[in-house]
Amino acid sequence: EELPLEMHKVRMVQRLDLVPVERRLKAIEEAGNNTFLLYNKDIYLDMLTDSGVNAMSDKQTAAMLTVDDSYAGSATFTRLQDKIAEIFGKEYFLPVHQGRACENLLSLAFVKKDTYIPMNYHFTTTKAHIMINGGKVLELFLPDALDSVSSKPFKGNIDLNQLQKLIDEEGADKISFIRIEAGTNLIGGQPVALDNFIETGKIARKYKIPFIVDASLWADNLHFIKTRDEKYKNLSTREITRILSDSADIVYFSARKLGHVRGGGIITNDEAAYKKLLEMLPLYEGFSTYGGMSTREMEAMVVGLDETMDEEMINQGPIFIKYMVDELVKLGVPVITPPGGLGAHLDAMAFLDHVPQKEYRAGSLAAALYIASGVRGMERGTISEEREEDGSDHFAAVELLRLALPRRVFTLSQVKYTIDRIAWLYENRKLIGGLEFYEEPKVLRFFFGKLKPT
Ligand code: F0G
Repeated sequence: EELPLEMHKVRMVQRLDLVPVERRLKAIEEAGNNTFLLYNKDIYLDMLTDSGVNAMSDKQTAAMLTVDDSYAGSATFTRLQDKIAEIFGKEYFLPVHQGRACENLLSLAFVKKDTYIPMNYHFTTTKAHIMINGGKVLELFLPDALDSVSSKPFKGNIDLNQLQKLIDEEGADKISFIRIEAGTNLIGGQPVALDNFIETGKIARKYKIPFIVDASLWADNLHFIKTRDEKYKNLSTREITRILSDSADIVYFSARKLGHVRGGGIITNDEAAYKKLLEMLPLYEGFSTYGGMSTREMEAMVVGLDETMDEEMINQGPIFIKYMVDELVKLGVPVITPPGGLGAHLDAMAFLDHVPQKEYRAGSLAAALYIASGVRGMERGTISEEREEDGSDHFAAVELLRLALPRRVFTLSQVKYTIDRIAWLYENRKLIGGLEFYEEPKVLRFFFGKLKPT
């Protein structure tokens, strides 16, 4: 077998507990069978997300001590702005407190009521922001994007034919903007080909429709372009990033993922767009030289973005995910293939085919895996969808249990333990039943909703 190698050494550790299964049963019940509502003290391996919990490097931590703290005009901000311009080749940068803050500002500024926002795939908070502002999300993925067993290298691509057809039939003025999410979170961290960004950019320019890229998961996507696309494997990470950025009018990202800190930002060369966003920035985020981020995080982000251009750093997520996915495939466990970014994604649709989809297969699997292992994953299925206007459930196209691998956090033996527990659970899957809500928030119910066994 091919072992993924850690290209770092561990110099600071945090103690973990693996509480007994009786406590885990009690804990998940107290949490309403929602892994978001568990507490760390009851969790062995936290694979909920990579958001804000990737390991920071020694250089990032050191940079946090050399900040220039000030409300307005700090040198830390200038360093960050310069680093962004160097890497992305765009002049204007608006810092915000995290990724969804970008989505809030961009939706307020650019979503026109009753227009379409075509995209490769939605993300939860993106869709909610667009809908609140009266826009309609259209997912234009390719027919095989949702196949759980696949060897297609770039399942995240937007379907350019469908995009052209939409423009021909509805007219460019019915489209507020086109969005591509690098690394498609909700369909298993599947990457987008560089040519797909380039071609989308050309269509957008031809019809004068703004093209916005969500680059939160760009680090993994960049690794996949370098390793899966013959055409671009000889370009440097910086050259590829520049091509991506040049294809788009606006690039935004959650720095909780890209840059390994806690923050986010919007980048553009479009002065009018910048000014429009800038007007709203102090109202929702903060002054233009911090935007809700601490200067410490901004200083660490300068280093984090540089490190994101280091192939030996950004391969650490994908090679461990690949190991996990390949081993699960060998054991016959249904898992999304090819391995993507962010984490391993169990295919709960197949894993729990004896549970009706209305009883939330992915949510049930998340609760069961926690009980069986102390590992916390995240439901990415029907619970993560909003209900239809008539109150009925909108069934997700894919029911996934995501096991995120925050970069450089878990060791190979911890990954092996997780694989072993998943394999056990798969053999004993008939023990797992469905769930129903007993407390259900109206918006983004997956965060705070509570469920009980049916
Ligand atoms: N876009 C993508 C592709 C994301 O994955 C996320 C967050 C956001 C935007 C929003 O960024 O959390 O900083 O506000 N994804 C996290 C996750 C929450 O766990 O997948 P944020």
